[in-house]
Amino acid sequence: MTLYGEIDATRAERGTDRGAERFQPASVRGQAGVASGLASVAGLMFGLDIGVISGALGPVAREFHAGRLLQEWIVAAMMVGAALGVPIAARLSFGWGRKHTLLIGAALFVVGSLFCAVAGSVSTLIAGRVMMGLAVGISTFTAPLYIAEIADPRHRGAMVAIYQLMITIGIMAAFVSNALFSYFDTWRWMLGIVAFPGIVFMIGVAFLPASPRWLMMRGKREAARRALQDLRGQGQSVARELREIDARLHVRTSGWALLRKDRNFRRSVALGVTLQLVQQFTGMNVVMYYAPRILGLAGFIDHARLWGTVSVGAVNVAATFVAIGLVDRWGRRPLLICGLVVMAIGMALLGYSPSAEVRETTARALAIGGMICFVSGFAFSAGPVTWVLCAEIQPLQGREFGVGCSTAANWIANMIVGVSFLSLMDRLGLSATFWLYAGLNALFVLVVALFVPETKGLTLERIERDLATGVRLRDIGRAGPLSGGRT
Ligand code: BGC
Repeated sequence: MTLYGEIDATRAERGTDRGAERFQPASVRGQAGVASGLASVAGLMFGLDIGVISGALGPVAREFHAGRLLQEWIVAAMMVGAALGVPIAARLSFGWGRKHTLLIGAALFVVGSLFCAVAGSVSTLIAGRVMMGLAVGISTFTAPLYIAEIADPRHRGAMVAIYQLMITIGIMAAFVSNALFSYFDTWRWMLGIVAFPGIVFMIGVAFLPASPRWLMMRGKREAARRALQDLRGQGQSVARELREIDARLHVRTSGWALLRKDRNFRRSVALGVTLQLVQQFTGMNVVMYYAPRILGLAGFIDHARLWGTVSVGAVNVAATFVAIGLVDRWGRRPLLICGLVVMAIGMALLGYSPSAEVRETTARALAIGGMICFVSGFAFSAGPVTWVLCAEIQPLQGREFGVGCSTAANWIANMIVGVSFLSLMDRLGLSATFWLYAGLNALFVLVVALFVPETKGLTLERIERDLATGVRLRDIGRAGPLSGGRT
């Protein structure tokens, strides 16, 4: 998680405030390339785990005669594990180091997916999903942290884009695998296949060096110097970077203590948590987890439902490129507001699709069109922009704690959305459930307009100073010099 924050620390350090640099696909070489590769695999695993259940749920429910509640728990078990995995990872990565924690995460991916694949009962399957969730929680906390600590500062900006992009690619890969395996009606392979990239992830992690920053935290200065020298290449001076690591270690304080004593830190933590709640309650994961079912209800049958889901996944990947290109040109607020309006329209189309007044072919067009509209709105806005903003708004002193809180909020809200969708559908009906999400998205436009700052082109110090002096959240960066150099 620190990754996102470090990117801006780096930007601020350089004093280059043209945010466009952040998302440029920098040429990533050497150890920075290794770091980016690792980020990709962790993101991919995250995405695979999110996507895989949508195809497996139907056959699983048939085999185990699982009712609505059990199905919801099969979906949500992963989020329970992930929410638990975040604090576990925070402890392990401090005590055992980032690399060993990542190894544990990777091993859990493998064991968890194999556990799911051979499950003989719903409870075993749920246990396997919790294990996979732990793996997701552990690696989504630790991988970005580790990458931020070992990556060459000049390439950190590219990592955010690659990481979110790989989540979407992982989701799409899972949708494709679901569609292919559906011809053999074997949910066990759908879930078990995740073990293969898990093994690749594990092998990759085993070859990585320890984080120099962690070594410094443990007082192993000489080992840290050697590790950094290896990472930056022989002949490069690492003395300045070591001094910077040292200085940063000194400003770190306990998040809880800061939260108790500093009202402005409470504001930034609350904003981060709100942003993640907004991201999740847009309803994105309703589509990610239940797309084949929604398409089934709209009249698509058999494999068409799964290939329809693949097209939704492809839109998710493609629209993420739009965000990469626009987030530093348009800014965060316009992208978020625009995306939320598009998402509200998409949900409204979905809400209208089961209406008695539309013919079956129109209903299908509305369902797939609504889903594509909604997913593209999410992918060019709330998907990537939330993660970027969440790190930008936390002060250096409490960054890990602040980002930890917002990430935990992401997983808890993810679980609530996953666990409630089928019940909502039963109680309110499909149409009203989508209208509810359409309303929430419309409400979020207001939340963003009122509370979300525009951080484009601001130094991290400027954001932090405005926060610390009690400037209203949406006015951060508005008064005084805007950008260009330190403020
Ligand atoms: C969200 C996930 C979501 C994914 C979809 C991520 O930013 O945190 O919950 O499934 O985007 O692309």
